Amino acid sequence: MKQALRHAALAIVLAGGAAMPALAAEKPDMAELKGEAREIIQGFFKELKGTLVSAMKEKGPAGAVDVCNTKAQEITAKHNAKGWQVGRTALKLRNPKNAPDAWEKAVLEEFEKKIAEGADPKKLVKAEIVEENGRKVFRLMKAIPTMKPCLNCHGEKVSEDVLAVIRKHYPQDQATGFRLGQLRGAFTLKKPLN
Ligand code: HEC
Repeated sequence: MKQALRHAALAIVLAGGAAMPALAAEKPDMAELKGEAREIIQGFFKELKGTLVSAMKEKGPAGAVDVCNTKAQEITAKHNAKGWQVGRTALKLRNPKNAPDAWEKAVLEEFEKKIAEGADPKKLVKAEIVEENGRKVFRLMKAIPTMKPCLNCHGEKVSEDVLAVIRKHYPQDQATGFRLGQLRGAFTLKKPLN
């Protein structure tokens, strides 16, 4: 009797276990995925900002470029978790490793268009389920506006000593000349669903 019950319980667990991923793939919970993405972005942004602020205080903007150069990619990799892939991208790049793919490029262009039409860049988010190599993938991007401290390294009047360090690490840098409030780039996240 006990044995039979155990078998029945096992059968239910197995059936449930097998059915759940299929259900999840058919009906992904967009609100839940967006919530997870928002949390990851918050943690990622907090750590990037904290690292940047303390580097600027300790070493000034030129020294902080060195810190960004070694830490930015490391911090990015650290925030990949639970099936999520996390990054930053932009149309005008500093690090070519952050180059957008076709979907990201289209979203960045859409953000630019919306900002030109008066949208607040702080509120721009795009979420979509796309098909990649026969696989459903949840993708989300959140716009990053240019704020005041960013101008030290991305603005129109970056000082010579800062530019020198930027050129040393990023000989193909395109990420200066930004004005306050302009779109600097975006956070980009994806999670395969099945
Ligand atoms: C001390 C100089 C410095 C400051 C200040 C700074 N950045 Fe950057 N930024 C960098 C460097 C260096 C990189 C390249 C990091 C890497 O190698 O991935 C970068 C990369 C980026 C990227 C990734 C896309 C790309 O072009 O490679 C974004 C987005 C970005 N910065 C946004 C900002 C924003 C927004 C601010 C203000 C809150 C800011 N940055 C402030 C130096 C700086």
